[in-house]
Amino acid sequence: MHCHLLPGVDDGPRDWEESMALVRQGTMDGIGAALVTPHLADLDPGLAGTLRERFVELVEKAKGIGIELILGAEVAFQFGLEGVRELGVGLFGGRYFLLELVPLGLVPPKLEDTLFQLHLDGLFPVLAHIERYPGLVGDLERLERLARMGVLFQVNAETFLGKSGRAAARAVLRLARMGLVHIVGSDAHDPDSRPMRMADAWRTVERDVGVEVARRIFEEIPRALLSGERVDAEPLEEEGEGVFKRVTRRLWRM
Ligand SMILES: [Fe+2]
Repeated sequence: MHCHLLPGVDDGPRDWEESMALVRQGTMDGIGAALVTPHLADLDPGLAGTLRERFVELVEKAKGIGIELILGAEVAFQFGLEGVRELGVGLFGGRYFLLELVPLGLVPPKLEDTLFQLHLDGLFPVLAHIERYPGLVGDLERLERLARMGVLFQVNAETFLGKSGRAAARAVLRLARMGLVHIVGSDAHDPDSRPMRMADAWRTVERDVGVEVARRIFEEIPRALLSGERVDAEPLEEEGEGVFKRVTRRLWRM
């Protein structure tokens, strides 16, 4: 649900060799479909056209590999996001798109207002790699509030595997337990330093959180979003409310 497979359009693969190596990693991981999400830093029709052309080439080259490819985009936060609909690139399931908050680490002022406005326009952004925004993940109440608004959260596969440290891995597993991870994406950029690793992440989530959650965030919700269905983003009720929850809430902020 989040990967950079088109060569030479962003900081993803440099050439077709790297692109195809990533596609093959995906199929080895058991991925049946990939939402291809090149960076879309501004809503420029020229860039959108280039992405579409490059995507057609990718589909051609991946014929016979047995993976369904869908063109999306990782849209940078900006004003006028309703323009995504007219652009014809980025939307999947007719109403969803992957939204990256930039600059990374900062949460734009009036984020909730913008998201609410998008919802009124029938657009439902999925926040990309929420673990990268300290202003959001350091504030569980805010995350829960956003989820109740219907905002969906994506986490990178490698974060579950400790790429950003053990504390971050524990934190995203906890979010998954709370129902605050809706989809997992690889955010793969190249086969070596930022590979797919979806199967490893699945195994970690299955082992630490359970197979039901793994199925939900790797398969069921992604499939529903790609078909344009509405998904319940609400957090799950946790066991052990009370002192335990308060302590862990504080730990999360450390
Ligand atoms: Fe990305």
